[in-house]
Amino acid sequence: MITWRVLDDYPTLSRDAADRLLAAIESDPRAVLLLPTGTTPEGMYAEVVRQCRGRYFCFRDVTTFNLDEYVGLPADHSGSYFSYMQERLFRHTDLDPARRHIPDGTAERIRRQRPELSLDEALELECARYEEEIRRAGGIDLAILGMGRNGHIGFNEPGSPFDSRTRVVELHPSTRQANAPFFPDGDVPSRAITAGIATILSAARIILLVSGASKADAVRRLASTEPSPDLPASALLNHSDVLVLADREAAAKIEQPQGMERPAAEQPPY
Ligand code: GLP
Repeated sequence: MITWRVLDDYPTLSRDAADRLLAAIESDPRAVLLLPTGTTPEGMYAEVVRQCRGRYFCFRDVTTFNLDEYVGLPADHSGSYFSYMQERLFRHTDLDPARRHIPDGTAERIRRQRPELSLDEALELECARYEEEIRRAGGIDLAILGMGRNGHIGFNEPGSPFDSRTRVVELHPSTRQANAPFFPDGDVPSRAITAGIATILSAARIILLVSGASKADAVRRLASTEPSPDLPASALLNHSDVLVLADREAAAKIEQPQGMERPAAEQPPY
């Protein structure tokens, strides 16, 4: 079931998302989070960091997993999602480096241990390792997601099976184009490791963040469709606890009274 909440603008959405993230770790300091990258959550991270400043133990016992990472980029590459998280969250908080997890798009450690493996074989083991880490952490308590213009979540592009787990995927040309600003040299990777749709749906709670006019079509589709692999985000309709936080621009093509929070099952948002 999806609950919709439409907020005035991006700063309001970012504050709302940050408050919910912080409330989750306040109520359970050992919470396990699945976290997004992209431009949408940047405001949320900035607000989380602002609110954590001067507070002890904000993230001390929290465990984080990231949704995805590009294949072939070492962690310290400026376009890697590790660098993104390092800049926007990790280096500003007391999050224990041993408790933060991002798929390794180079599978370097596995390749060092098993030099006989090809890159693809090592990446496959890395994906299995990542799933195992999530399982060992006790599963995800709260997943926070963004959504691509074509409805992708993580890097689960249209057509991704709803029972997919962490795996290597080819990026859609439109996704590479959308993410090109993060690669000033123009060299956008063509593959990524992503948590699968089933991995995402295994979270106890999910919050989807959507902001800006470029997402309005995908939001309209999400608000009016049945679950279908054509729109990966529609898999969320199969989950029992999903909150969509949309700003007015993203929600412009659905009819949803501003600030109204109610279950889609009782009152469709369109
Ligand atoms: C990337 C990420 C997704 C993210 C999407 C939307 O493809 N892998 O996790 O949700 O971009 O990004 P943005 O928020 O920049 O529109």
